[in-house]
Amino acid sequence: MANVHQFEVIVVGAGGAGLMAGLYASRGAKTAIISKMYPTRSHTGAAQGGISAALGNYEEDKPEWHMYDTVKGSDYLGDQDAIEFMTSEAIDAVLELEHMGLPFDRTPEGRISQRPFGGHTNNETGQPVRRAAHAADRTGHMILQTLYQQCIKNEVTFFDEYQVLDFIMVDGKAAGVVAVELASGELHTFHAKAVIFATGGYGRIFEVTSNAYAYTGDGCSILLKKGLPLEDMEFFQFHPTGIYKLGILITEGARGEGAVLINGKGERFMPKYAATVKDLASRDVVSRAIYTEIKEGRGINGKNYVYLDIRPETVNRYAAEDGRTNPDGSPIIITGETVLKKIPDIVDFCRVYLGVDPVTQLMPTQPTAHYAMGGIPTNKFGEVVTDDKGTTIPGLYAAGECACVSVHGANRLGTNSLLDIVVFGKHAGLKAAEYSKTAQFGKMPQDAEAGARSEFEALMNGSGKENVYDLSNEMKNVMFADVGIYRNEKDMQSALEKIREMQKRFKDVKVSDTGKVFNTELLNAWELGNLLDVAEVVAASALNRKESRGGHSREDYPERDDENWLKHTLIAKRNGKLEISYKPVVITKHQPKPRVY
Ligand code: FUM
Repeated sequence: MANVHQFEVIVVGAGGAGLMAGLYASRGAKTAIISKMYPTRSHTGAAQGGISAALGNYEEDKPEWHMYDTVKGSDYLGDQDAIEFMTSEAIDAVLELEHMGLPFDRTPEGRISQRPFGGHTNNETGQPVRRAAHAADRTGHMILQTLYQQCIKNEVTFFDEYQVLDFIMVDGKAAGVVAVELASGELHTFHAKAVIFATGGYGRIFEVTSNAYAYTGDGCSILLKKGLPLEDMEFFQFHPTGIYKLGILITEGARGEGAVLINGKGERFMPKYAATVKDLASRDVVSRAIYTEIKEGRGINGKNYVYLDIRPETVNRYAAEDGRTNPDGSPIIITGETVLKKIPDIVDFCRVYLGVDPVTQLMPTQPTAHYAMGGIPTNKFGEVVTDDKGTTIPGLYAAGECACVSVHGANRLGTNSLLDIVVFGKHAGLKAAEYSKTAQFGKMPQDAEAGARSEFEALMNGSGKENVYDLSNEMKNVMFADVGIYRNEKDMQSALEKIREMQKRFKDVKVSDTGKVFNTELLNAWELGNLLDVAEVVAASALNRKESRGGHSREDYPERDDENWLKHTLIAKRNGKLEISYKPVVITKHQPKPRVY
C-alpha cells in the first residue's frame, strides 16, 4: 500500500462543520481534513442571510426564546436537550467567530448587526426579533474564509480534492477511511483513531435545489452501506425563494429586510396564510403557500413561480401598513442603496442569471430543495448513535448537515444551520480529540482499499446500457414531483418503485473516460449511486410516516399526529432490505402544542 497516511483525527468534509471540527480537534490531536473540493468552495459558502444568536443587539432577546422558537419551528420533533445546548452556546459561538475576525455587518454603535428571520420571536409579545447576525448576504462565505484561516494557522493538514469513498471499521470501532486523489486517480488509505463525517447534505436528489453540485449525500450513503441507520430522512426543507428554474437561494434575509411575495394577480398573499408574521412565517408554511397559489392558478402568467418584491417603494409601503418600524421607532424607509448594501450577492445573481434588477424589478422565485433535517444520528457531542438506546460507535462522529442531532426536528429555522455547524462541529472536534488521547489505532485490514476499488471497477466495467446524466435527471424529477413539498401514498409508492428500478439500472452504467487524472465522469457516476441510496431512504421514510409535520406534508394525512408519530425514524439497509425503527423525542421544557401560524 503506497499511499498510507496516519492521523489521530480525520475529518471528512471542509465546510463550516468540518473546519470547526478540524480546528478544535487539532488543538488536542494530530488532525487532517479531507475534502472533495477546495475548502473555501464548500457549500457553507452558499449560506447567505445569517447565523442565529440571541445577542439582543437591537431589542431584548434571550437564549430561552431562541430555544422555544427552535422547538416550535421543529414542530416539536427536535430533541429539546440538544436544542437547549445549541441555543445556550449560540452567543459565545458568534462572539468567537467575531474574535476570529469574521467581518460581521455593524449597528451604528458598532455592535454586530442582526436582522429578522422567519420564526425568530419575542416569546412574550409574539413580535419578530432581530436574531440573525449577518455579513451582508455572504455570512456562510465569511464563516468559511474565517475558519479556513484559523485551521491553516493551527497547522491542520488538508487533503484537498480527495474524495472519501469508504469508511473502515475494525472490531466495531472507527479505524480510518479510503479516498481517491482526484488529480491522480490514486487510492489513499487514511488510518485514524477517530473519523468525523461533515460531508453536508443531499439536495441534489431533487430537480430544483439551492444545493451545490457536490451535495450528493456521500457520508450518509457510505455509512448506510455499512448497515448503520439514518434518522428522520423524511424531513427535507424547501426554501420558499429560489431563483426561478435555477434554484439558487434568494436569502430569507431579503424578506427580513422587508421584501414581500406577490402572486400573478399582483396580490401580496402571505397575510392569507400567516396573519401575524406574514412573509416571515416559517419556511414550510411559506413554501406551501407559494405552491398553493401556483396550484390554484395564481402563479405568474399561470406558470409555476411567483414574485419576490424588494423594490424600495414596496418595502416602505408594506412596512408602514404592517406597523413595522426601525428599532428607535422611526419609519422604515429603504432606498436602492440599502438594497445593494444588504443583499449585494442576490442583486448580482438576479442581474446575471435573470437579467432582472431587484432594485427596480420583481424577482421570479419558486420553492427550492434546500436543507436536509435528517441524516446520521448523533448525540450533542457528535458521537454517532445507532439505536434508540444511544449506543455509539467508538471513534465515529458526524456534524453539520449530514448529521441529525436532532436540533431541527421536522423543520429548521433559518440561520440555525450556521449555528448548528459551528456548535456541533466544535463539540465533535473536541470529543474526537479527547477520545484519541486514550484510544489505540485499530489494525487496518490487509486490503483496506478493496471495497472502494471494486465500486470503481463496477462503474468502469458496466454494460453501458445506462447513462449517468439521464438516470440522474430521472431521479431528480421523480423526487421533486412525488416526494416534494406535498406528498401522498400513491405518488411516493410509485417514486420508491422507480428509484429501486433506477438502482438496478445503475448497475448498467459505464464510465467512458478511462483516464486517471480528474476523472469527473467516474466521480459523478459514483455520486449518483450515493444519491440513489439516499433517495430510496428519503422516499421510504416519507411513505412510512403517516402524518403531516413540519417539512413533511401529506395530502392524505394532513394533521400532525402526536399520539402515533411523535418519534424519530431510524432507517437502515441490511441484507438488501430497509429496516425501520424509532427513537423517542427528548422533551424537557416544552410540551407539544398545536401549531399556530
Ligand atoms: O435564507 C437564507 O439566507 C438561508 C439561511 C438558512 O438556510 O439558514
